[in-house]
Amino acid sequence: MMSNRTKKGDVLLSIKGLKIQGFSDEKWHDIINGIDLTLHAGEVLGLIGESGAGKSTLGLAAMGYTQPGCRITEGEIIFDGVDLAKLSDVEKRKFWGDRMTYVAQSAAASFNPARRLIVQTTASTIRAGIKNRQDAYDDAKQLYDVLNLPDPDNIGDRYPHQVSGGQLQRVMTAMAMSPRPDLLVFDEPTTALDVTTQVEVLASMRSIVQEFNTAAIYITHDLAVVAQMADVIKVLRYGCEVEEAPTRQMLSAPKEAYTKSLWSVRALEKPQQTAKASVLSLKNIDASYGIQVLKGVDLQIFKGEVLALVGESGSGKSVTSLMHWPFAAVVWHCEV
Ligand SMILES: Nc1ncnc2c1ncn2[C@@H]1O[C@H](COP(=O)(O)OP(=O)(O)O)[C@@H](O)[C@H]1O
Ligand SMILES: [Mg+2]
Repeated sequence: MMSNRTKKGDVLLSIKGLKIQGFSDEKWHDIINGIDLTLHAGEVLGLIGESGAGKSTLGLAAMGYTQPGCRITEGEIIFDGVDLAKLSDVEKRKFWGDRMTYVAQSAAASFNPARRLIVQTTASTIRAGIKNRQDAYDDAKQLYDVLNLPDPDNIGDRYPHQVSGGQLQRVMTAMAMSPRPDLLVFDEPTTALDVTTQVEVLASMRSIVQEFNTAAIYITHDLAVVAQMADVIKVLRYGCEVEEAPTRQMLSAPKEAYTKSLWSVRALEKPQQTAKASVLSLKNIDASYGIQVLKGVDLQIFKGEVLALVGESGSGKSVTSLMHWPFAAVVWHCEV
């Protein structure tokens, strides 16, 4: 499979002194306050920070894009020698969907529900004239395979609602990879997925950017996620850089107090134990709707306690809560 157009190690993107303002409450506010960022070809930069820190604004600006209501007031965004901040939208569109692509948080909201996945995966590649339809389709099937999607030769014939959330997020990654961009911006692409699915999707994203030597900006608020993905981590707060360092160094020896506070896992204080009065006790629950959903589930909740029910999509969490009405009728074998 062909690769993109840059050589590993070359500076691909160089942002200097970037300032962006956003308009709200009838005035302009500073959102990005003088950020510098360097990204080499094939490198993955993790952008981490709390909600509202400016991660998405910066990630989009790396592609030369500002959302409606935002404006670049200072700085340069040099992508492969061209200052994107100086280009018109028409000129920038030549880069979008070709040399740079974007994977959003919610794949479900980003797909057209009425078009087959493979049509959407290949649309911008075909439109940009990078591949003809047949080659783009063949390549999409290979990308599905690299991304560990089931039945890669045929899954593209499905519509978005016919695959799971994790699968759709992978299809979106295939779509972003289809034109073989030099830069891929992932904006919290696994936040909406359950933990086990998240791990699998992350692994496939990691392997695909490596395979094609694609530089990436990986935005997240989750440290465990960024540690898996990034070569370098930049921490952002209030639109300013807190610090930047290679991933290992950042994890083992963060310099700034704010970063340390992100890293330290605060154990939740346990509520005071009172006398244990059982409120609900379920024993040995089986449930089925043709296929078995629950098998021998026990559960006990005491007064004042909060019980967390954790599991991947489809594991039976809602059924276990017994509030899922179609199942209430088919639960058997149950002592409550
Ligand atoms: N289109 C917009 N117009 C005005 N202000 C915006 C716009 N988008 C984001 N902002 C503001 O910019 C700040 C950073 O937002 P964002 O980049 O989305 O943060 P993050 O992705 O880190 O959560 C927030 O205070 C937000 O309210
Ligand atoms: Mg964001």
